[in-house]
This record gives sequence, C-alpha cells and structure tokens, in this order.
Amino acid sequence: MSDNNTGKTTKEKILSMLEQSRDYVSGQDICDSLSLSRTAVWKHINTLRAEGYEIASVNNRGYKLNGMPDIINEKCIRDHLHTKWLAQNVIYYEETDSSNNKAKQLGEEGEKDGTVVVVDRQTAGKGRRGKNWISPAGNCYFSILLYPDVRVDRASMVTLVAAMAVSEAVREVTGIDTRIKWPNDVVAGGKKICGILTESSTDMEYIQYVVVGIGINCNQKKFENEIKDMATSISLETGKDVERAKLLAKVFEHFERYYTLYLETEDLSKLYDRYNELLINKDRDVKIIENGRERIMKAIGINEVGALIVEDSDGRQETVISGEVSVRGLYGYV
Ligand code: BTN
Repeated sequence: MSDNNTGKTTKEKILSMLEQSRDYVSGQDICDSLSLSRTAVWKHINTLRAEGYEIASVNNRGYKLNGMPDIINEKCIRDHLHTKWLAQNVIYYEETDSSNNKAKQLGEEGEKDGTVVVVDRQTAGKGRRGKNWISPAGNCYFSILLYPDVRVDRASMVTLVAAMAVSEAVREVTGIDTRIKWPNDVVAGGKKICGILTESSTDMEYIQYVVVGIGINCNQKKFENEIKDMATSISLETGKDVERAKLLAKVFEHFERYYTLYLETEDLSKLYDRYNELLINKDRDVKIIENGRERIMKAIGINEVGALIVEDSDGRQETVISGEVSVRGLYGYV
C-alpha cells in the first residue's frame, strides 16, 4: 500500500529509514514513526531480505542495512538517474533472447525516443559479424532506442558516441582506466570489457530508428576458453563487484550529453578530441587488415566522421573506415 503524501509504500519507508542511518535503527523507532506493530515491521524486513537487501538485526539495537541487492530494474536505475530524457522509460526483463531484438520491436511500434531495454541475462545475445554474445546474469545488457534526425550515412557514428559514454561511466564509477579500441570496443587492462552492436532500420534517405545495444562485463569472474585471453570484467579488474544500476545510470547520463553534442553537428566534431584521448591505439603501430591484406601503420586518431587516420613510415596519412577494415595491435587484441 502506498502513502498519499510520499507515494512510498511502507516497505519503502522502512528501507529509507535504514538507508539514511549509518547505524542500527531501533525497531521501536520504526514502529513509532510509521505507526506499525513490531510484527508488521519484522514482516517487511523479511520481505526486503528476500529481495536481496542485507539487513542485520541485533536484540536491543534494531536493524542495520549492510548491503543492497544488485538489481537493475527501472526503480533501481531511477534511484541514480540524472538525465533529462534518456532512460526515462526503462523496460526491464530478467531474461530475454536479446535486448536489441526487444528494442527493435519497440522501434517498429514507435515507442518513445530514449527508451531503454535492460536485461539481466540473454538467451540469444548478439555480437558483431553474426557472432553470439554469451550473456550470463551479473553483467549489463541493454539497448537504447533512438530516432536521430540525421542523414542515413551519419547514423553509425552513434556507436562511437556509445563507446565514449561507457568508457567515461566505467571510469567514473570504478576508477578503471578504460580506453576505446577503434571503433567501439571499450577495453581495460588490454582486454575487452564492453561490446556494442548498433542496428538500425533505414531506407535510402530516412532513418526509422536506431538501436544501440551495449554489453558491459560487470561481475563475471570467468570467461569461456575461446575468449578468456581477450575478455575481462569490472570485477576482475578491480577485485570488487560493481553496483550495476549505478553504472547504467552513469552510462545514460554520459550518453545523453555526448549524443546531444553529436546531434548538434550531425558528426563527431565536438567529440573527437575527447575520443582521441580515450583511444588506446593513438600514436601506436597497429595492424590494418583489409580483404586479407595486412599493413602496419601508426594510428593518429579519428576525424570528425569517426574514420581512423593512419600514417605510414614515410609520414603519408590516409583514413580507414570501420566496417571496411579491422584493426589489431601488433602483439594481440590491442
Ligand atoms: C560485439 O560483438 O562486440 C558487440 C556485442 C554487443 C552485445 C550487446 S549485449 C546487449 C545487446 N543485445 C544484444 O543481443 N547484443 C547487444
């Protein structure tokens, strides 16, 4: 039952009391301030525990909140969210095939701009180039639905905007020195921590919608053999689990800011300086792989349309375009 003045349920009010106190809150104080019986308080505490809140209880002292559940539903994200329009509509699934599939369906139905589909685990997560994205519980899998009013050939830059937003958010929330491997993998400690798959519905000159699908490896401790040398997670890098709702809210905040700048110019001219600061390949020799041919070039940075500027040993520069070439480090993934 919710209270008319605050809109909070009794359980939420008890939770707020516990959240606001660093120490034990006496059962009697809770009873008095919410006009509840001891038994009613105890029942609500047990419901909270069942939802994953760690609540200690000690005779004569009361209850103390020791840990929050790692839940990424709309309410938990909203508790951390500071955006104007992005992720004001969150659709959460504990399990689905792919958040991108769900978001594309919503795009077909004309769901609101900035709607986000968040999923705890995916049964058919999709990676780039037709690969699977294995998606066990404990990470972040989400897709942002957008209707950018830009030329069709400008839409793919949204993927780079997303890589910047993830990189900034992971840095801010966890302190990891994340970087971007051109064009849009986010890396930490030389391994991939996030992948992005953008899918859109367009005709010759019109974008119906764009779905930016993002998978961030958060609290995963082990990876399958085929990817374990290439993949890492926040918890492997920091030794600690991350509160995913907080991280997601931070990604949305940075995405909204960067995406707005991108829309202003329909390109990355207001963003590429920062992108190049985050670019792990910058000023490094990389292997450019194009139609089976490999060349070693020095990566200089991206230009305003997101192409990578590379330089040969004679100082001659050219640009390479994502989708047409792959870039590898000389000795491995980065
Ligand atoms: C890549 O191959 O690097 C891209 C991986 C993208 C994975 C994310 S997880 C959320 C969204 N839903 C999907 O099915 N894929 C993307």
